[in-house]
Amino acid sequence: MPAALQHNLFVKGTREQAAKQDFVSGLRAFVLNDMAQTMKSHYLHDLEPDLSQRQATPQSGRDVHQVMKSDSVFKFYSSMRYNAQEMVWRSVLRPLHHGKRELGNRIEAAVTSGRKESDAGLELDGNLQIPSNVAALDVHLAPGSYHREDAAADWMAGAVYDHGLNIFSFGRMGESLDDIGHSMANYIRCKFPDFAPSTIIDLGCTIGHNTCAWKITYPQAQVTGIDVAPACLRYGYARAKDKGLDVNFRQLNATSLDYPDDSVDIVFSSMFLHELPVADIRKVMAEAHRVLRPGGLMLHMELPPNDSVSPYDSFYLDWDAYYNNEPFYKAFRDQDFTGLRLQAGFSQDKQFEFITPQYTYMQPDDYAKAVEVDVPVDENTGRLAEGIQWYGFGAWK
Ligand SMILES: C[S@@+](CC[C@H](N)C(=O)[O-])C[C@H]1O[C@@H](n2cnc3c(N)ncnc32)[C@H](O)[C@@H]1O
Repeated sequence: MPAALQHNLFVKGTREQAAKQDFVSGLRAFVLNDMAQTMKSHYLHDLEPDLSQRQATPQSGRDVHQVMKSDSVFKFYSSMRYNAQEMVWRSVLRPLHHGKRELGNRIEAAVTSGRKESDAGLELDGNLQIPSNVAALDVHLAPGSYHREDAAADWMAGAVYDHGLNIFSFGRMGESLDDIGHSMANYIRCKFPDFAPSTIIDLGCTIGHNTCAWKITYPQAQVTGIDVAPACLRYGYARAKDKGLDVNFRQLNATSLDYPDDSVDIVFSSMFLHELPVADIRKVMAEAHRVLRPGGLMLHMELPPNDSVSPYDSFYLDWDAYYNNEPFYKAFRDQDFTGLRLQAGFSQDKQFEFITPQYTYMQPDDYAKAVEVDVPVDENTGRLAEGIQWYGFGAWK
């Protein structure tokens, strides 16, 4: 179940609203754990043996999807998951709209005073065109996608994302929803203790929840979250300030960064690349290579590529591409991740990929020991369920 978000911008809502949110979170946990396991067993025990006898064993996620599309277990799973996704957003909209004035005051207070003095800035560009991968659809069914603005200086889309993600992740991403950021940043800190980045940018940062983890891990670094969506950036800026963190936020398209060549130590992103058309992914990686200093690091957290998982797991992880308004997800996961990095200018011997356990739920010493051992991608990699581990891939310039 989701816990209260650990910042002053958390809107609790009425008891009835909170009960509804608990229900939706529980429903998602049930669908993604219990129903997903039942569906996998059904495929492996009821469907696949028969297909294999007929020499028609599915060889790819697409093949498995073809089989499952007409299967009633999958249809039931899929409709439950789709509806739970819509319910996530519905469950947070009402409390946020009821609490809008009060939340607006808290946002203003966070920005004007903050928990401590801070130099961090928010830079918006009113002329920036919102790219169609964001503007043309309600990404993952969120009403208004990331960028909707109904008033001047609107921050509501950011608040919806924060509170929605809390319900969506059913307590598996930490109380500030920053476990991915902490897991990635601490993986780098533990594995490369001599690396001392002074400039870190996080592409597609949304509300900066995972950006903040880099500032906590590397407090001396200048950390900047980059996104195209102003309402998310405004909210994210206030959220970071409320936590007393000096994180900058900038409205920029990650396909054309305005940083000089060789000027950044880490270009990071999490759950970002899969929302871009492949042509834009190539541009983002080329930009990362251009702006990185020699010795700098490009690092992306994503679901693992399709060629690293079984046909069934590939089908399972591609669900969002077909049913959750994330049309580029599959095309991205079908890419050769090594080839993408080579094309961007990163040499093969400087590339790496890894799996990390969740930092938030371990003692720091245990985490440091755990990441000494390299583990392969498995069925829990990136799957929001019990035993989840995160996948990262990167390259040194
Ligand atoms: C799934 S969210 C990323 C979530 C976040 N990084 C995390 O760790 O949970 C994708 C974000 O990328 C942003 N985005 C999409 N296209 C972009 C682009 N071309 N440049 C910058 N941001 C972009 C969207 O506005 C959205 O906030």
